[in-house]
Amino acid sequence: MKTVATLPRPITDYQSLSAEELFERTRAAKRTLGDRVMILGHNYQRDEVIQHADFRGDSLILAQVAEQRSDRPYVVFCGVHFMAETADVLSRSNQTVILPDMAAGCSMADMAAIEQVEQCWDALGRVVPVEETVMPAVYVNSAAILKAFCGEHGGLTCTSSNARKVIEWSWARREKILFFPDEHLGRNTANKMGIPREQMIVWDPYMPRGGNSVEAIQRAKLILWKGHCSVHQMFQPSHVDYFRKQYPDVKVIVHPECHEDVVNQADLVGSTEYIIRTITAAPAGTTWAVGTELNLVNRLKHEQTDKKVFFLSSIVCQCATMYRIDAPHLCWALENLADGHVVNRIVVPDDEKQWAKVALDRMMALS
Ligand code: 13P
Ligand code: SF4
Repeated sequence: MKTVATLPRPITDYQSLSAEELFERTRAAKRTLGDRVMILGHNYQRDEVIQHADFRGDSLILAQVAEQRSDRPYVVFCGVHFMAETADVLSRSNQTVILPDMAAGCSMADMAAIEQVEQCWDALGRVVPVEETVMPAVYVNSAAILKAFCGEHGGLTCTSSNARKVIEWSWARREKILFFPDEHLGRNTANKMGIPREQMIVWDPYMPRGGNSVEAIQRAKLILWKGHCSVHQMFQPSHVDYFRKQYPDVKVIVHPECHEDVVNQADLVGSTEYIIRTITAAPAGTTWAVGTELNLVNRLKHEQTDKKVFFLSSIVCQCATMYRIDAPHLCWALENLADGHVVNRIVVPDDEKQWAKVALDRMMALS
């Protein structure tokens, strides 16, 4: 890599470039960097970004690639902050992870702060012997410090594609699970496992004892954090009804972050990768209504031309934070890298990294 005395190029230089210029310059920077860089792209990324990805997939696949491809010193992560943090934890110490726009966060991940989780743990500890009784399991859509909390307390992480295995693993070891920050992924997974409603309680971090009685906590097998994805919450049972009436043969497929009222009416439920694989493998002429982020659904619609693919809502809603990664930011990050400047590096502090890795490794072993 060239070492230059110049300052990094500013992002403002990129904002008025045409789509063609950005495409050519991104491709040229990538060519210059060669096999020193790999670009990872989450399934929700826009076409202008994902077209440059070396690997694309759901959060589990991208974590696995980050862990396995230790030959690439630079990882440019086109996704959101928690995914780039996971890549930093799982990659080697000589690898550098870059997130093209630091504003690409996740509103669900922001719904659980470490102080709130620690308060919850203390409150649970006043009701039950918490370390022996409660397994903390955190959805990867969370800050690294929460993954570290789970690692340190015997727990682990999960993604939308392995939540069931993680829940089974946890109950094999402890009587209760504290599942955070997505209430819906936890509830939908437990529903599919036949867990009765009375054994699930919701923990509201803004209420004393999470809004629960001592008896309810003692009875609970699954303690679900009151958190959600604002994108997936917009899908309603009425949307499913609409498509069933309009297209009697329709198959409804949704992400498990949707509300249970939607998931229970859907034909199929699974991660972004599961949704893509299922529709891609479906016979020609089939009709699909898809309850997940719009960029993914639009791409399927354009690629699967022998099928009818619909977005399961009349309201157009994208993940506003995934959308922060655009062609100008990707080009800016790559050209700076080719000049010898690392911009927007994601670094998980060593003390968090150590325990976060323990939690992630436990999950990876199950996947
Ligand atoms: P997947 O793990 O299914 O890719 O989902 C990530 C996500 O953020 C869904 O909103
Ligand atoms: Fe977070 Fe929802 Fe966006 Fe996924 S779709 S990154 S859960 S805000």
